Amino acid sequence: MSGITARSLSDGLGAEINGVDLSRPLDEETFKTIHAAWLDHGVLAFPAQKAMTVDDQIAFTRRFGALISHHMPQFCLPERPEVLVVSNVKEDGRPLGQEKAGRNWHTDYQFLAEPASASFLHAIEVPPDQGDTLFIGMTAVHDALPAATRKRIAGLNVVHSRVQTWPILYPHRPPLSAAEAARTPDIVHPLVRTHPETGRQCLYLGDVMWAVEGMDRKEGQALLRDLYNFATQERFVYAYRWRPGDAVLWDNRCTMHCATPFAEETYRRLMYRTTAQGERPFYADP
Ligand code: SIN
Repeated sequence: MSGITARSLSDGLGAEINGVDLSRPLDEETFKTIHAAWLDHGVLAFPAQKAMTVDDQIAFTRRFGALISHHMPQFCLPERPEVLVVSNVKEDGRPLGQEKAGRNWHTDYQFLAEPASASFLHAIEVPPDQGDTLFIGMTAVHDALPAATRKRIAGLNVVHSRVQTWPILYPHRPPLSAAEAARTPDIVHPLVRTHPETGRQCLYLGDVMWAVEGMDRKEGQALLRDLYNFATQERFVYAYRWRPGDAVLWDNRCTMHCATPFAEETYRRLMYRTTAQGERPFYADP
């Protein structure tokens, strides 16, 4: 028996997993239990995994799919392009990782043809009582939409454009180089996404949405804005408060997340993220 327990963290989204040490290899039964809990809860917190090394983290994430190496290697661990460093820490004047990463509601690598399924974030250093990560379960959001809206958006496709949205999202960062832009061309994904493992319908929003296919641009943007405003209501949001050593695994196919600000001049926040590649998103008409 695996001895694992899952305790719900909020109504419908998130569970805390105890009784597992992620610094040790997981047997198949334990992995299956975790995988099933991940599908059920969307977000899993593994408290106090202080012994988990970067290689343990990579090995665990790889069980969910091939790892995605970040397109900006300057923000990854040297020798470990699969590990994105999210941090405000500078050493010898050099940033250790990406600062102010993920401060907009998004899902990981939505601008790729095959975006992320699992993301796994390990807290190495965190500020006390600040710098939470917020999550929204997008199945619950989809199901809470008025029936007429669900009917209207079923089968619509959205153009996601990293290139067009970059200067709007990141005015504080240098513009994308031509080579970076070429690596992430615009991509079309369904607005309602059928989860490939649970079969549930999820609203698939994010921060690089640019236009709704076949719709006047203004009308499309107004629709996306309305859906975004609906989804980000407080009643759908769960805030995870980090302690050092915590690790959180989420399913990008049915959740959105967002990092929150903290007193960056006072505190250090250092997080390692690994991400598994998922499937091409699709919509299956029920
Ligand atoms: C992310 O968007 O993956 C990072 C979230 C966080 O740092 O809280």
